[in-house]
Amino acid sequence: MAEMGLFEAMYSARALRRFKPDPVPDDVMTKVLDAAIRAPSGSNAQGWLFVVVKDAEKRRRLGAIYHKASQILTALYAERPRTSHFSEEQYRRFMSSVTYLFDHMDEAPVLLLACLKSALAGAAPSGLSPELQSAIAKAARTRGASIYPAVQNIILACRAFGLGTVLTTIHTFFEEEVKEIVGLPSEVSTFALMPIGYPRGKFGPVRRLPVSEVACLDSYGKPWPG
Ligand SMILES: Cc1cc2nc3c(=O)[nH]c(=O)nc-3n(C[C@H](O)[C@H](O)[C@H](O)COP(=O)(O)O)c2cc1C
Repeated sequence: MAEMGLFEAMYSARALRRFKPDPVPDDVMTKVLDAAIRAPSGSNAQGWLFVVVKDAEKRRRLGAIYHKASQILTALYAERPRTSHFSEEQYRRFMSSVTYLFDHMDEAPVLLLACLKSALAGAAPSGLSPELQSAIAKAARTRGASIYPAVQNIILACRAFGLGTVLTTIHTFFEEEVKEIVGLPSEVSTFALMPIGYPRGKFGPVRRLPVSEVACLDSYGKPWPG
């Protein structure tokens, strides 16, 4: 097992998007995945599925889809003002890293697809009360909560093993094409495409807005005093 404190991992596992070509040993990937499946999931259903894509041609095809999706993201970014907490320089560095990946996703030696099987696959419930239908519709909003904790475990386990990665989601603009490449059945959905490899850049520090700006005590508007 990698020896690294949990807090050291959390505070230094920044998003890394440039990778060396060196392969990721299978036994290390197994340990990363074994950390992933320690995560919680709704009803402990563990409906996750992880596709480890090492094949160069499949990575090339996934990279091409990511590139195609990046054009949509670029158009969306153009419509949005720069996030206020970024300085000009921070935003420039962020965009340089993000746009690098647009053209280089396939260079990561591993592309990991984090997926979830649909809990309702096959049996469409019929005759539900309006209350139940409304509850199910609202639950759709939280569906990713059964896979993203596992994704965060992957990020931290990668950090512990000296591997870089980043959570990306824009491939879902072309979900069906992605699923076709790796042969996923209809009841499985993809939630994250994570390039994994030994990074060219350095880890950490992870910078965020302070707790005092994002946490309240008892009521909205009353800042947490810590
Ligand atoms: C829901 C979600 C979607 C993301 N999608 C992408 C993406 O499509 N491409 C990408 O390069 N990074 C993506 N990221 C990574 C974020 O840009 C990154 O986590 C954030 O900028 C913080 O980076 P840092 O930890 O290096 O500070 C995504 C992160 C999240 C949580």
